[in-house]
Amino acid sequence: MEQLRRPRRLRQDNLRNLVKETEFSLDNLVFPLFVIDGKNIKKEIKSLPGHYHFSVDCINDEIASLNYLGLNSVILFGISHKKDAFGQEAYNDNGIIQRAIREIKKEFSELIVITDICLCEYTNHGHCGIIDDSGYVKNDETLNYLGKIALSHARAGADILAPSDMMDGRIGYIRKVLDDEGFINIPIMAYSAKYASNFYGPFREAAESAPFKGNRKSYQMDYRNGREAVVEGELDFAQGADILMVKPALAYLDIIKRYSNNFNIPIAAYSVSGEYVMLKMAVDSGVMDKGVILETITAIKRAGANIIITYFAKEIAKMLKGIDN
Ligand code: PBG
Repeated sequence: MEQLRRPRRLRQDNLRNLVKETEFSLDNLVFPLFVIDGKNIKKEIKSLPGHYHFSVDCINDEIASLNYLGLNSVILFGISHKKDAFGQEAYNDNGIIQRAIREIKKEFSELIVITDICLCEYTNHGHCGIIDDSGYVKNDETLNYLGKIALSHARAGADILAPSDMMDGRIGYIRKVLDDEGFINIPIMAYSAKYASNFYGPFREAAESAPFKGNRKSYQMDYRNGREAVVEGELDFAQGADILMVKPALAYLDIIKRYSNNFNIPIAAYSVSGEYVMLKMAVDSGVMDKGVILETITAIKRAGANIIITYFAKEIAKMLKGIDN
């Protein structure tokens, strides 16, 4: 039978690599790391099997193992037991993240340290900003605190700052605070399209940051909206964001695609805790092959993400290097 177009011609074993569109590299992966108060702690997080709470004195063992696997960037989350209404511990120059950055940089100066700029792990009410009597998060009052946190992380030596609070105007505000203090070269990776998502469940347990009352729908985006994500991206771009992030990733590939079509700066995607747990459980119980991990992360890349934050970074590194778990 005559057929001019036979796509299967290029699917032959020796040709598949030649024609592959999506190239995957460990350089683009970011590993999330949870740092907790205390000493000599490496404790598995129940909601995130395979991930740990580390005290500052124990993080460099973990960084060494990331290094060995060829992973070069981390994003840090701090879990502090010092909480108050304003999250003041978040900008303590001797706080958990600030100490962690210095500890890492002492031994691994080349490692890219990204920090999450938010209040929720430090407020006693668990919200990402300052609240009024009704529990509503006050936008402009919160900016002041975000600026203090950003500055304190910059002083400690962070390489990239990632505001995840979703207040309006925060990127411009933080940019100005940084520039005024001379930190003109620290890039901001904005969590631009951060959706109010059920996929954050395991993280909130890991970071002890579930809101005490209410939810985050007055500041995080509604998952029914796609075009609004572009507006958020435009605002952050105009205010000086260097990298735009979409979060979560897997159920939001359309948003990642829109971002890569609309914005000519690097796009990051955060494959969040719920995505990890979902696949991890399916693979560990044997109902799905672990190939599903690489398939998923590649799909996020194919959709247009240049940078991917994933709890699977180590597994992926091992798979690519042919190291068995
Ligand atoms: C802090 C923050 C959250 C995540 C990253 N930064 C939680 C939230 O907004 O509730 C979620 C990450 C994940 O689920 O892996 N605002």
